[in-house]
Amino acid sequence: MNPAELTPLTARKGGPVLGRARVPGDKSISHRALILGALTVGETTVAGLLEGEDVLHTANAMRLLGARVDRSEDGTWRIQGSGVGGFAEPAGMLDFGNSGTGCRLVMGAVAGAPVTATFDGDESLRGRPMQRVLEPLRRMGVRVVDVADSGRLPLTLQGAAEPIPIIYEPPVASAQLKSAVLLAGLAAPGETTVIEAEATRDHTERLLKHFGAKITSKPFGDHGRRIVLQGQPELEPANVLVPADPSSAAFPLVAALLVPGSDLILDAVMTNPLRTGLFTTLREMGASIEVLEKRDAGGEEVADLHIRTSALKGVDVPPERAPSMIDEYPILAVAAAFAEGTTHMRGLKELRVKESDRLAATADMLRTNGVAVEIRGDDLVIEGKGRPLGGGEVKTHMDHRIAMSALVMGLGTDNPVRIDDSAFITTSFPDFAALMRSVGADLT
Ligand code: S3P
Repeated sequence: MNPAELTPLTARKGGPVLGRARVPGDKSISHRALILGALTVGETTVAGLLEGEDVLHTANAMRLLGARVDRSEDGTWRIQGSGVGGFAEPAGMLDFGNSGTGCRLVMGAVAGAPVTATFDGDESLRGRPMQRVLEPLRRMGVRVVDVADSGRLPLTLQGAAEPIPIIYEPPVASAQLKSAVLLAGLAAPGETTVIEAEATRDHTERLLKHFGAKITSKPFGDHGRRIVLQGQPELEPANVLVPADPSSAAFPLVAALLVPGSDLILDAVMTNPLRTGLFTTLREMGASIEVLEKRDAGGEEVADLHIRTSALKGVDVPPERAPSMIDEYPILAVAAAFAEGTTHMRGLKELRVKESDRLAATADMLRTNGVAVEIRGDDLVIEGKGRPLGGGEVKTHMDHRIAMSALVMGLGTDNPVRIDDSAFITTSFPDFAALMRSVGADLT
């Protein structure tokens, strides 16, 4: 990208983080609600959809595949789908922008329809591995018509009228991979089984059930799940309520922990246990995160969270916790830099293939701001000294979570932290700067 087109942003130390806020809808559930709505005959409504770039790309892909997708004035989204196997041949390329989730899930959905579709995305997405999804989809009968070097985008798939049901054991803990196979399995006659060694977020399973599919999920081994989906269901249109995204809540939450004198309430944050590894880890570090009211919201557990500034200490984060906080390591690294003592985060291999090489980008973010940090194999080791110096400019590498983490860091460091580009924040949290300013953050 031409440096003249970048939109830098700087965070400065100011007053405490105070008040009450609600972060936008969950990104994972938003993608899935649109896709399942498009696979259902009749009208599905979605309230609280995340209107971030990633999700809007999925909405457009569903339109190109023949669904009607509209936003009402009150913010409700309405989807008229054409049923399992009912996608139309898209007139143009499906562009997923920066979104690995949108792209991989729709690859699975397209696998179960006799159409040919081309998938593409931005420079970041073109660098991410797609082979992991192509492998099971090929086994299910999908033809890979065209694919760029070593399984990257752009790629063209021809779906199968009747995919083959398979028993699949993902080689990496990935909800995207699991979901692609389950979505393909919707069109298959018989049972599609996914056996996960490590349980990953289960929003696809929950929503499939909500739309009337027959699906079971049972514990498997120490940390895994065995998921069985009965193919060719008649999905029923549903009303989906999207709860607030815990991965977005993580940013104001950590800001409140770090900035002295803070007192913040975050409303109705989803607390699905497969998403809350960060909250567990922060509590182990000494964070004051009080759960005010737990309740159910559209089949997911939500709670208001009360956060107060806390003295944090370094901890050891076990590898088996990674799936429940896979997107939260950059912001945890910021918290660790403000802690006293060493934080050792283990088993972060998957971070190398996110929107950026997040392991390297996280280490660089800290290093340029005066924090001692080391990558040891697949681990990240951070020496916390209470309060980093700051004063660095962080390269965000088209990665929204690096951008937001660096800005949160700058709210607590003595010197300002600048990011080279804030544009990608709109992929997941379009009102990030406004929300942070509304609770006292100095972002200019
Ligand atoms: C997601 C799964 C995770 C996560 C991503 C969203 C999802 O990716 O990093 O932001 O919605 O399924 P992997 O499943 O590839 O780890």
